[in-house]
Amino acid sequence: MVDRIDIVPLPPSAAASCEAILRSLPQWFGIEEAIVRYRNDIERMESFGVHDNDRLIAFLTVNYHFDHAAEIHVMGIRKEYHRQGIGRAMVNHVESLLRTKGVELFEVKTLAAGHPDPNYAKTRLFYESLGFRPLEVNDLWGDKNPCLILVKHL
Ligand SMILES: CC(C)(COP(=O)(O)OP(=O)(O)OC[C@H]1O[C@@H](n2cnc3c(N)ncnc32)[C@H](O)[C@@H]1OP(=O)(O)O)[C@@H](O)C(=O)NCCC(=O)NCCS
Repeated sequence: MVDRIDIVPLPPSAAASCEAILRSLPQWFGIEEAIVRYRNDIERMESFGVHDNDRLIAFLTVNYHFDHAAEIHVMGIRKEYHRQGIGRAMVNHVESLLRTKGVELFEVKTLAAGHPDPNYAKTRLFYESLGFRPLEVNDLWGDKNPCLILVKHL
């Protein structure tokens, strides 16, 4: 349990610690090529994180698509810190920042309910609890991994 949730911008050099978080969550991030791609993306995109003492325990990476539209590209929190309000605090923090930049639409993609995975069912509950609304399901990740796009108006 962290005493206080302090959200800080992460430098590109933090990508290795973000990758370590992804690797600590194999129930969500089990595909090696995807982890490597995320690591590269984290290095060049804007990211935020939360530390417990000096250890990075949570991060969120933002992808800007247009002046008016941005996306949660990837986020992860070490399992022992789940359900302590850290994910909500990070998303709220980023939403405030996006509003100051004039961003209107905030998107996230995740595994759709057509896939039986119970872990992603929790992830969907998380996003929906923050006001994201299902927009469409598509086959961006192939037939076996239906992709749900959720969106919210900022
Ligand atoms: C999904 C994730 C980011 C959520 O972060 P978190 O810090 O655990 O979530 P929070 O404590 O901020 O939860 C906020 C709300 O979301 C909902 N929620 C979160 N986890 C939930 C769960 N396991 N079951 C049901 N609802 C849940 C609840 O409404 C919760 O509010 P409450 O605790 O007051 O009831 C985190 O669990 C995680 O890293 N999961 C693995 C990786 C992942 O799914 N990444 C996103 C895919 S790209």
